[in-house]
Amino acid sequence: MSPPTSATPPVPERFRGAAVIGGTHGLGRALALAAHDRGLRTVVYGRTAETLTDDGLLPRHLDLCDPRSVQDTPVELPTPCYVLWVAGAFLKKTLADTTEDEVEQLTRLLFTGPVNFLRRLLAAAGGPVHLITVASSSSWKRRERESLYCGLKAAQATFVRNLVPELLAAHPENRVTLVNPGGLAVPDFHTGLALDFGAMMDPDRVARIVWDIAADQRRPFTEVQILRSRAPGSEGTPEVSYGARTPQAPEEPDAPVAAEAAPPLPVQHD
Ligand SMILES: NC(=O)c1ccc[n+]([C@@H]2O[C@H](COP(=O)([O-])OP(=O)(O)OC[C@H]3O[C@@H](n4cnc5c(N)ncnc54)[C@H](OP(=O)(O)O)[C@@H]3O)[C@@H](O)[C@H]2O)c1
Repeated sequence: MSPPTSATPPVPERFRGAAVIGGTHGLGRALALAAHDRGLRTVVYGRTAETLTDDGLLPRHLDLCDPRSVQDTPVELPTPCYVLWVAGAFLKKTLADTTEDEVEQLTRLLFTGPVNFLRRLLAAAGGPVHLITVASSSSWKRRERESLYCGLKAAQATFVRNLVPELLAAHPENRVTLVNPGGLAVPDFHTGLALDFGAMMDPDRVARIVWDIAADQRRPFTEVQILRSRAPGSEGTPEVSYGARTPQAPEEPDAPVAAEAAPPLPVQHD
């Protein structure tokens, strides 16, 4: 399916604000700026929030790797509102080469920090909340030397799917959108890797797609894949499809066992 192309629909009046966890750079910043453009009071959390120069965004310092910061950072939620869980960092290393400290820090950043901060945000919400979560196609794709990153992204995706029933019990108008993007043209995220960013997705374009999907969402839960096209001439164009994906098998696609079990599927490294 092609990404939505319609003009940005107006934000339903009942939504007043957006809190973006990890809204200072990359996709999170693009989502925050788009939220502000939609007339939402937009609070942006991150370690470098103080350095934000974007007009209209409300920066708040938060370090997800510091349990005290997660516990003490004031939460402000003008409900009804959107809560966006976007913060993240990449790690490409074998587990054998990964230090105990790296395991601890990445787990805090990608999982325990946001889960605990979310716990506080949701407790403070005085009305309906629409949670938009940016996981990754790495939550289901076959990767090499990325087991910790992929495992934590899969945990994020599974966590929010299973949060839906209790959110609905708390308020029937609560909503969850789970977004699994492929490769984005965000060089800082892929530090040290020689990648062709011209063939990766523009974060501003992906942010507009995410907002169009979220604003149109009527069902309690939507899971969406936003993957980059590999077609010659349209490399990096976002392609949208809905629903969860079956995790890819860890063997090489042409390994004998995989070939016997099922026809090999192409592996894309988004
Ligand atoms: N780039 C890709 O190809 C890609 C593909 C699929 C999914 N994703 C996912 O998309 C999300 C955004 O990635 P991006 O490419 O936009 O990366 P990015 O430009 O590096 O932005 C990462 C964001 O996370 C925040 N963050 C990092 N460490 C933090 C900490 N300790 N405490 C609080 N906030 C912290 C950063 O804010 P501060 O630096 O201000 O703390 C920043 O706002 C991530 O969850 C990533 O896993 C990315």
